[in-house]
Amino acid sequence: MKLHDLEFELFIPAAGIHEKIQQLAAQIQQDYNGKTPLFLPILNGSFVFAADLIRLIQLPCRVSFVKHSSYHGTISSGKLKTLIGLSESLFNQDIIIVEDIMDTGLTLSKVVEELRSLGTRSVEIVTLIRKEAARKHAVQPRYVGFDIQDEFVAGYGLDYEGFGRNLPDIYRKR
Ligand code: IMP
Repeated sequence: MKLHDLEFELFIPAAGIHEKIQQLAAQIQQDYNGKTPLFLPILNGSFVFAADLIRLIQLPCRVSFVKHSSYHGTISSGKLKTLIGLSESLFNQDIIIVEDIMDTGLTLSKVVEELRSLGTRSVEIVTLIRKEAARKHAVQPRYVGFDIQDEFVAGYGLDYEGFGRNLPDIYRKR
């Protein structure tokens, strides 16, 4: 399957993704019983994952999509990015960041730092995919869908050069 100028092959079929998301939702539901979490999905990549995950959560909760102030393509730049789109007050809130993929983990560690400085009660991360390199980072997600090697993936919200977000399955670069 070709995306833009590269060949990709099927990696995680939609059924496997949905099974995993049910497990993640069940864990979150159990851990946040009695709480009112605020989900912060990070655009653009997590819009599909967030939509599926949130519909399986039966807790009183809120959702606010956020975005990095600058976007540097698919290669981690290591530059500090701040979040935009935060409309709710985060003071005393239990935040669950919803991320599509952790590569180096650098982006999320900055986000966690920023959110903690705003007086949040707790900040946890749910990521659909964690790459090998991210496992070495100090900031770790509480919930992980799939642990993969350091390979490039697209589909299910994830893009290559802007393409592939609409695909129901996850593909990897050949
Ligand atoms: P990190 O700061 O290195 O963890 O970068 C994470 C961000 O890089 C993700 O939110 C994605 O936007 C992007 N990214 C990293 N790896 C991939 C990939 O394999 N496919 C698509 N986007 C990726």
